[in-house]
Amino acid sequence: MTTRKDVILSGIRPTGRLHFGNYFGAIQHFLRLQEQDHTCYYFIADYHALTTIKESTDYFRQTLDMLRTYIACGLDPAKSVIYRQSDLPSTAELALLLGMITNVGMLERGTTYKDAVSKLPGGTTSGAEGNPISYGLLGYPVLMSADILIVQANVVPVGDDQRQHVEITIDLAQRFNHRFGEVFTIPRSVDRGAIRLPGLDGGAKMGKSENNDLGLLDDPATVLKKLKAVPTTTDPAPLTTESNAPDDVIPQMPPSVGALYRFLSLLAPEEVYLDFVGKYRRGEKFYGTLKTTLAEHVNRFNAPIIDKFNAPGNDDAFVTEFLRENAKRVSPVALDTVESCRAAMGIGRSLHRA
Ligand code: TYM
Repeated sequence: MTTRKDVILSGIRPTGRLHFGNYFGAIQHFLRLQEQDHTCYYFIADYHALTTIKESTDYFRQTLDMLRTYIACGLDPAKSVIYRQSDLPSTAELALLLGMITNVGMLERGTTYKDAVSKLPGGTTSGAEGNPISYGLLGYPVLMSADILIVQANVVPVGDDQRQHVEITIDLAQRFNHRFGEVFTIPRSVDRGAIRLPGLDGGAKMGKSENNDLGLLDDPATVLKKLKAVPTTTDPAPLTTESNAPDDVIPQMPPSVGALYRFLSLLAPEEVYLDFVGKYRRGEKFYGTLKTTLAEHVNRFNAPIIDKFNAPGNDDAFVTEFLRENAKRVSPVALDTVESCRAAMGIGRSLHRA
């Protein structure tokens, strides 16, 4: 729940194009909140993109395309402060200061870090190669805390996968205030209704790096190809629930079939979703039509976004200009927080900033 005049902050990494997980986990909330009487900060987390960097990548190009997609989805730089994380280098200073009170054990228990460790050969951080995981990846939640605390945000609209990171932020802010005085607003925990959209392979989470995503800019041919490739060979087990609600029905389905129904429940009118639940209950042969029907609804959803993405005016020059303007709007807020933090810890305010 939000009250009037909350400070909202959220970010998305410039990992390529936005997918349905990003939209339903985050962007739909950005859109709703920017229409209310709040201060909204939405940024592209380009520093965070570097936590898994292997070679130089054109993150600036990816940032511009992500921003054009933000605009195509309906984000409005006149209503929300939309900026690039690296245009606010004071975030890095705040992350450094917060790092001084961050317990390494807590970071090692972080899900992102643990996932990365589990993917190492042998699932260990030691061994002949040493630990190839970066200090930056271990510190991912500290940098994310700095993003949130630097603008004194109290609401962080994110998908369910980011819940633990926000809990770490709350912990760090409380710890800081307790030791050094009240500098930070304590953010609220992630909403209980935050979702985690499954991937097209039935995997628990849709993600770009998992290669199981449905993109907001995918054209009809790509959508159909991706949906046709969804594995639907497992025979449906009979549903044991009378309720047709997605949260009751979908967990009883084979995971990849459940993913198709989840998308249908989000994108199609209720009667279409219910019709397909009926077909499932009756054990009809319907996977082909389920996929083509879903493809139609995905295309209907994507078409205006693709149009606006390509619209004259939504170009690199426009995006770069509002990035420049908005960085000027958020910088003083950020510097103010960092200066208070420095003073509270005792190194004193910076001598070169006004
Ligand atoms: P990123 O780019 O991985 O994800 C961006 C947003 O999309 C949501 N999301 C999903 N939601 C539901 N189902 C999915 N399958 C799914 N996949 C992604 C994420 O929850 C997120 O809201 N660490 C952040 C970026 C960040 C940030 C911040 C966010 C950096 N600093 C400060 C908030 C506040 C991230 O997950 O990016």
